[in-house]
Amino acid sequence: MNPVQRIYFNEVATRDGFQIEPNFIATDDKVALVDALGDCGYAKIEVTSFTSPRAIPMLRDAEEVMGRIHRVPGVEYSVLVPNRRGAERALEARADELNLVMSASETHNLANLRMPRENSFAALAGVIRHVDGATPINVSLSCAFGCPMEGDVPQGELLRWGERFAGLGVRGLSICDTTGMAHPAQVSRMAEALQKHFPDLQLTLHFHNTRGMGLANVLAAVQGGITRLDGSLGGLGGCPYAPGASGNVASEDAVHMLGAMGYDTGIDLSKLLALARVLPDIVGHAVPGQVARAGRSTDLHPAPDFVAALRAQFA
Ligand code: COA
Ligand code: ZN
Repeated sequence: MNPVQRIYFNEVATRDGFQIEPNFIATDDKVALVDALGDCGYAKIEVTSFTSPRAIPMLRDAEEVMGRIHRVPGVEYSVLVPNRRGAERALEARADELNLVMSASETHNLANLRMPRENSFAALAGVIRHVDGATPINVSLSCAFGCPMEGDVPQGELLRWGERFAGLGVRGLSICDTTGMAHPAQVSRMAEALQKHFPDLQLTLHFHNTRGMGLANVLAAVQGGITRLDGSLGGLGGCPYAPGASGNVASEDAVHMLGAMGYDTGIDLSKLLALARVLPDIVGHAVPGQVARAGRSTDLHPAPDFVAALRAQFA
C-alpha cells in the first residue's frame, strides 16, 4: 500500500478573503479568527498584508493583528508584502514568513502594484537581499494561469519569473490563479513543469473558484505531485485590482474532498466546519463554501418514515 500522502494547507481567509470584503471587519474578530484557525492543524496561516492602507483599507490594522494573535507552535504566521516598506513593517511585526507578491502579467502588476513587473522585481530583490535569510521568503506570482485583462500568460513566462526569484534564494513560490482561469489540464502541465524546474523549492498552488474549477484544479495539482495548497475558509477571497475576481477554493471543501480520498491534510475538519459556519456572522453575508452547508458526505440523514413500511412490503 502507498504511504498516505501528506498535504500542507495554508489558510488565506484573513488576507485574500478579507481584502475584498466591503465592510470593515473588527480587529477583535480578525484576531479571534486567526487564533481559532491556529488550532485547526494548518501548516501556515497568511494573517494579513502590509500594503498601503489606502490600497487595502481592510487590512490597515495589520500591526495590531500580528501583535495580538496567539501563535501556536508549529504553525507559520505569514504576511503578504508588496514592497520594501511592507517588508520593514512585516519584519517589525515578527512575521514567520514574508510572502512577496508580484504578477506574472504586466497589466495586472500595473493595476495591483502600480508599477511595471521589472520595477517590482527590482524592489523585491532588494527586500530579499535586505532580509538576507533571517526570515524565510515566499514569492506569490499572481495571474499565473492567465490574466483577466491580457488573457494567456505563457507557462514559459511564469517559469522565467520563478527562476529569477529562485536565483535569489527564496524558499518557496506560490503559483496563483488569481481570477479562476486555470483548468485541470493546464494545472497538470504546470505541476509537472514546476517540480522539474524547482525541485528544491516549496511549491504552493493557489486557486480561486471563480468558474467552478477550483476543486478540480486542487485535484489535478495533488495528483500531479503538489503537496502545498492555499485555501480560504468559506471560499472568501479575491483581488480588488483584478476585474471579476471572486473567492478562493474553500479550505473546508478541499480538506473534505482530500480527506475522503485518503490524503492526510493534518486538519481537524470538525473544527474547520464549525468556524466556516460562524463566518457569515463575521462578514455579514452568506459564504460560498459548500460542505459547511451540506455537511460531510459521511453525515447521514434519517430515512422518511414510510421507508420502513416499504421495506416490510418488499421483504
Ligand atoms: N505600507 C504602508 N504604506 C505604504 C506602503 C506599505 N507597504 N507602501 C506605500 N505606502 C504608502 C506610502 O507611504 C505613501 O503614503 P503617503 O501618500 O501618505 O505618503 C502611499 O502609500 C503611496 O506610496 P507609493 O510608494 O507611491 O505607492 P503606490 O501608491 O504606488 O502604491 C502599493 C503601491 C503596492 C503600495 C499599493 O498599490 C498597494 O499596497 N497595493 C496593494 C496590493 C494588494 O495587496 N493587492 C491584493 C493582493 S494581491
Ligand atoms: Zn488569491
